[in-house]
Amino acid sequence: MSTSTLAPVSTPTLKPLPFDPSKLKGLSERLIRSHWENNYGGSVKALAVTKKHLAEALAAPDMPPYLYNELKREHLLRTGSVVLHEYYFDNLGGSGQADAGSRKALAEAFGSFDAWETEFRRMGTGLGGGSGWVVLGFNTHTRQLENYWMADHAHGPAATLPILVMDMYEHSYQMDYGAAAAKYVDAFFQNIQWETVAQRLEACCRPPAA
Ligand SMILES: [Fe+2]
Repeated sequence: MSTSTLAPVSTPTLKPLPFDPSKLKGLSERLIRSHWENNYGGSVKALAVTKKHLAEALAAPDMPPYLYNELKREHLLRTGSVVLHEYYFDNLGGSGQADAGSRKALAEAFGSFDAWETEFRRMGTGLGGGSGWVVLGFNTHTRQLENYWMADHAHGPAATLPILVMDMYEHSYQMDYGAAAAKYVDAFFQNIQWETVAQRLEACCRPPAA
């Protein structure tokens, strides 16, 4: 197979914040702007560079496969970072008041809405001082809604679509709360955009066609 032609590269682009960052409760504009620009924005730029290098490396016949895979590792991490940050910012900027449909769906999946919230909060607090993500996800294989722990951008559960995403990297809260991760989790809950969550639930969790 010829490798002399560079494959087309789709360049990732920054997605604007879907809310006014000066209007969040308990999360400062400075924190949100820094997170969006430096952490999310940094991953968007790094993913673009990685994709360019991958295209060039694939066209190079003398590229050792083990070095090619170093780029694929970066591709995996950066893709996870970009996608999860976009889900995260998209599910912020709301009232924090869950709608009846979302409450019902979570109560059915977890026994009660409070049981879902207790576990989600506990997982977030448990990641304090470290890094990772808490993801309420719909597993398209088991057809279950579950809360998933993720140690980094690459630890996504198999066959799972994110419904609600909480960033637990320290850059998400350190500027406002220092090491007090639980206070950040409280602030996150006050700003959940439940309309977005409800739309994701509706898109994901419809029963399969008979
Ligand atoms: Fe982040």
